[in-house]
Amino acid sequence: SSFPVADPAASTSLHDIARMTQACRQCPLWEHATAAVPGEGPENAHIMIVGEQPGDREDLEGRPFVGPAGQLLDRALVEAGLDRSTCYVTNAVKHFKWTPRGKLRLHQKPGAGEIEACKPWLLAELSKVAPEIVILLGGTAARSLLGPDVQVTKHRGLVAAPQIASRVVLTVHPSYLLRVDELRKEAEFRQFVADLKLAVSSQV
Ligand code: URA
Repeated sequence: SSFPVADPAASTSLHDIARMTQACRQCPLWEHATAAVPGEGPENAHIMIVGEQPGDREDLEGRPFVGPAGQLLDRALVEAGLDRSTCYVTNAVKHFKWTPRGKLRLHQKPGAGEIEACKPWLLAELSKVAPEIVILLGGTAARSLLGPDVQVTKHRGLVAAPQIASRVVLTVHPSYLLRVDELRKEAEFRQFVADLKLAVSSQV
């Protein structure tokens, strides 16, 4: 077959990684997605932010974190003093997984097999960008890069993962903050911002 092998050479550019991701058939998610959503940001970024998978808006626009969760992330990054345009922003899984509900496309959590199938693309981005700091948003990103035993509630904050980056921060996914009870929303948002600040704080 002419499927690209999900094992790009170290010399492969981010542009080529994105192109290969677009043609990936290592799992079935491509069939019902508009297109793959590759990572975005400068190749020399010091910070890499890893989400779960593109949502409805991201799938249509072809860019990561442009929908409601992305807007919340943007607001939190500003509050934490981080400039998104200097970060490399990507997802653990590159195609939108969804199920029809009337006219809507309902988000479905990617499974272990899909996370595994997509991992080579994330690793390729990681080795190309080689960030000092990696921020993992939620369980899927954590599972992909840290393995199945990591739990956001238990290991939230700085995690020791020198094979990934010199500083790795694990926090909740911003879509959790969209769903959380109204009474807890502000406190949860504050905690999320505090986690993002860990990424750049010198006091650790
Ligand atoms: N949620 C994610 O995890 N990634 C996106 O790109 C958008 C929403």
